[in-house]
Amino acid sequence: MKKPLILVTGANGQLASAIRQLSAAMHDFEFLFPDREALPVHEPGLVQSYFTANAPDYCINCAAYTAVDKAESDRDTAMLVNGTAVGILAASCKKAGAKFIHISTDYVFNGQANTAYTETAAVDPVNYYGLTKLKGEQIAANSNSDSIIIRTSWVYSAYGNNFVKTMLRLMKERTELNVVNDQFGSPTFANDLASFILAIITKTHQHASAWVPGVYHFSNECIISWYDFAVAIRDFAGLNCKVNPIPTSQFPTPAKRPAWSVMDKTKAKEIFGVQIPGWKDSLVHCLDEISAVHPA
Ligand SMILES: NC(=O)c1ccc[n+]([C@@H]2O[C@H](COP(=O)([O-])OP(=O)(O)OC[C@H]3O[C@@H](n4cnc5c(N)ncnc54)[C@H](OP(=O)(O)O)[C@@H]3O)[C@@H](O)[C@H]2O)c1
Repeated sequence: MKKPLILVTGANGQLASAIRQLSAAMHDFEFLFPDREALPVHEPGLVQSYFTANAPDYCINCAAYTAVDKAESDRDTAMLVNGTAVGILAASCKKAGAKFIHISTDYVFNGQANTAYTETAAVDPVNYYGLTKLKGEQIAANSNSDSIIIRTSWVYSAYGNNFVKTMLRLMKERTELNVVNDQFGSPTFANDLASFILAIITKTHQHASAWVPGVYHFSNECIISWYDFAVAIRDFAGLNCKVNPIPTSQFPTPAKRPAWSVMDKTKAKEIFGVQIPGWKDSLVHCLDEISAVHPA
C-alpha cells in the first residue's frame, strides 16, 4: 500500500529542517522537502503542477517571509509569501484532497494583554509582518476550512538564524550585552513544534477523526523575557558574558514588537493529547545539538 506523502515547503528553514530530522524515524510516511527554488510557494502555476505531479496527502507550510524588520519596507514580498502564497497552497490542498497545516505567529496579537492569549482572543498586529501572517491565517481558513493553523513564537533551533545562536555568538565575542527585559513570551524549540505537527499527522493517519481543523497555539511552557532567555542561554552554555537588562525604548527596531505574546496552549494539549516540554529542557537539548555541530 502507498505510504501517505507529506509535503514540507520552505525546506531550508528552521522548522522544515527540524521536521526533516524527525522524518528519518517515520517509516510509515514518505516526505518531500522542496526548497524555495524547487517550490516557490507564491507561484500558482508551479504549485499546481507540483501538486499534480506528486499528489501529497499532507502539506506542512514552513515557507515564510520571516525577516520581521525588513517586512516593514519590503511589504509586497512579505505579503506575497505570508498572505497570497498561503491561499495558493490552501486551495491546492483542497483541490488535491490533501490536509493543510499552516504556521502562524504570536505577532498577530497587539501585546497589550496580561494573561495568556487563547485562540479566540482578538487579533491586532502591531507590525507589518504580523499583518501579513494574519492575512495568511484568514486566507487559509477561507480557501480551505479544513486547514490547521498553528501559531508559534520565538522559534529557535540548531538550524538557520535565531536568538539562541545569535546570543551564543555575541556572548563569545563580547564581555557585555544588553537585552530587552520588558517583552514577555515563550520560546519554541523547533524540534518540539515539529514533533507536535508530526503527532497530529500520525494520529490522523490512525484515525481520520483526529484531524480537528482550526487555530492552535504552540510554544514551550513558560513566561519569560528576552533577557531571562539570554541569561539562561549564557548559563546553560557555560559562558561568562555580562547580560544587562534594558527597556525596549533603548533598543529601537524598524518593526514594533508586542510587549506580551504569551499564548495559552490548552487547546493543543487537550485536542491532540500532547505534552509540551518545559523551556529549560528544550533549551539544553538545542544547545547540545548546536555544540555537536560546532564543538567549542
Ligand atoms: N522564527 C520565529 O521566531 C517565528 C516566530 C513565530 C512564528 N514563526 C513562523 O514559523 C514558521 C517557520 O519559521 P522558521 O523560523 O522555520 O522560518 P525560516 O527559518 O525563516 O524559514 C522560512 C523558509 O521559507 C523559505 N521561503 C521564503 N520565501 C519562500 C517562497 N516564496 N517559496 C518557498 N520558500 C520560501 C525560506 O527560503 P530561503 O532559505 O531560501 O530564504 C526559508 O527557508 C513561519 O511560518 C514563521 O512565520 C516563526
